[in-house]
Parts: sequence; C-alpha cells; structure tokens
Amino acid sequence: MRTEITELFGIEHPIVQGGMHWVGFAEMAAAVSNAGGLGIITGLTQRTADDLAREIERCRKLTEKPFGVNLTFLPSVNPPDYPGYVQAIIDGGVKIVETAGNNPKQWLPALKDAGIKVIHKCTSVRHALSAEAIGVDALSIDGFECAGHPGEDDIPNMILLPLAARKLGIPFVASGGFGTADQLVAALALGAEGINMGTRFIATQEAPVHDNVKRAILEASELDTRLVMRPLRNTERVLANAGVERLLAKESTLGDAITFEDIVPEVAGVYPRIMRDGEMDAGAWSCGLVAGLIDDIPTCQELIDRIMGEADEIIRGRLAGLVAP
Ligand SMILES: Cc1cc2nc3c(=O)[nH]c(=O)nc-3n(C[C@H](O)[C@H](O)[C@H](O)COP(=O)(O)O)c2cc1C
Repeated sequence: MRTEITELFGIEHPIVQGGMHWVGFAEMAAAVSNAGGLGIITGLTQRTADDLAREIERCRKLTEKPFGVNLTFLPSVNPPDYPGYVQAIIDGGVKIVETAGNNPKQWLPALKDAGIKVIHKCTSVRHALSAEAIGVDALSIDGFECAGHPGEDDIPNMILLPLAARKLGIPFVASGGFGTADQLVAALALGAEGINMGTRFIATQEAPVHDNVKRAILEASELDTRLVMRPLRNTERVLANAGVERLLAKESTLGDAITFEDIVPEVAGVYPRIMRDGEMDAGAWSCGLVAGLIDDIPTCQELIDRIMGEADEIIRGRLAGLVAP
C-alpha cells in the first residue's frame, strides 16, 4: 500500500509506532522498522543526550530501515536538555522526528536544516493547523481514545479525523485507538494516510517491557482505562490499577484545590516500576481504549503483516463488493 506517509518516510507500510516512555527503546523501534513500519525511539526516556546518542547507535545496529526519535516538549520548571537531544538526533543521522506536547517551533529550523522530516502529534485541529503553519511535514492526529494525553477537548477520531481532512493541507496519520486492519481501512476512508499505534505495539513479543504489562493489556477491556489529572488540565488516559484508584480518590476529595505535589506518589517515577519491574499497581501509566481489542502477543512482523493482509482483503473484498461493477 502506497500513501503519502509511506512516500514521505520511505517505509513499506503506513503504520507508525508512537513514542512511548520506557517502551520506545532501540529494540522496539527496530522491530517495527524491520517489519516495514516506522519505529520510534523515545528521546526523553534516555537520561542524557549522550545516552540518546548511544540508543540511536544501538538501533542502527538492529535495523537498516528508517526509524525516528520522539521529542516530547513538556512545560517544565527544569526543562530537559532539549538542545542536546536535538544535536544527538542530528549527529546520529536520524531523518525523522516525532514531536509532541508543546508547539515545536523553536526546534524546527535546526531539524529542517539537517534534512529531518518532522511529524507533529497533537489532539486538535487548531493545534494541527498551527503546526502546519510553522512547516512540519506531517501530523499525527491523536483522538480521545488514545493512551497518554488526549488533551481537554474529548473529541473521538470519528469526528476529529474528518475535520482534520477538511482543514489540513499536509498528510496526517490517525492515532488513538488503532490496532486492527478494519480500523486502518476506516482511517484511510476518513482521510488519514496511515495509522499511529502505541498500546498495540506494547503487546508484542519484541516490546522491551515486563510480561506483566503485556498480560495486563490482554486482560483489560475497553472499560478499564481511566482519565487522571483532569483537574490539573493535564489529562492522561491510563490503565486502572490500585495506584490509579488512589489518585482518583485524591482528585475527588481535594477537588479544585489539588496540586501536582498531592499526586507525586502515583505519577512520579512510576514508569520503570511498571515497565521494567512489572509492579502493576505502582501508579499511572498510559494505556488506550484499544486494550479492549487486543488479545494476543504477536511479533511486530506478524502484527503488521496481519493488519496489511486483512486491510487488503477488506478493500478488495468486502468494500469493492459493496459497489456496483
Ligand atoms: C506507555 C505509553 C507511553 C507513552 N509515552 C509517550 C511519550 O513519552 N511521548 C508521546 O508523545 N507519546 C507517548 N505516548 C502516546 C503514543 O505515542 C501514542 O500517541 C498513543 O499511544 C496512541 O494511542 P493508542 O495507544 O490508542 O494507540 C505513550 C503511550 C503509551 C501507551
């Protein structure tokens, strides 16, 4: 299947693996890229710019295919070493960057000068239009279904994607809730040039996370995610667990008076405890509604081949059969 996204990134299939904190290591990115998708290393999971440089080098040893790096721009009192990370990406010869969080305007000139293609992930059409205006190459439109930060508008992809298609001039992938071939076909019908998946790629053989995490995704239904940090206007979709229930109890008790300090035990330093140690009640970790559709742990190659094979059958078979010859 050729789309504007496969052409832009030089990949075989229109499937991107979104940056994921404590999941997007070299092994994950390389497995997705080797399977013909676009794998992405998560920049901020690497403690320093030097660590990121080494991770890029490691990924290059694992795949000859294109891969990207995610840079998440968070509002922060003590910001990470963004200039260092950007330099590590440029020096490492990476040609694709997924930006997320704040508008990437400040970093765009350096990335573009280095010939890097930028795909910006955002949760609203107005943010997508701002990113388009500053010159990003593509967008990843993250609907309300998504794992992680869906923003505060709560617009699911069934509305968000057609709106994006009406307004945007550059290609976009649909993100949030995707994991199957029928959904890929739906995304294409709604105007997207491919899909971005997070949660689905965690439940794969190669995802470098504790087996408890994969098992939790398999066991979860579509009813098992929660939205936390709404009162702080920093909403995150996470998998329900004892830590998350504690966090939600604090939110309901403290109401508008809640501050970040109140919830530090349930959100700070949680990712290594979940992803590396498999301590599944440690606190809030991003997980999407698509968990309800996931019931196996294939290799990335099996997953992507299945999605592309079934998408082909749906388009040539069922859909073609619906219209008069
Ligand atoms: C465990 C986990 C960690 C994530 N961490 C990040 C991150 O650090 N930066 C980012 O831009 N997106 C992050 N995401 C969001 C994904 O890149 C992607 O946009 C999202 O998972 C799409 O929704 P889906 O899970 O329904 O496919 C994370 C997602 C998960 C599941």
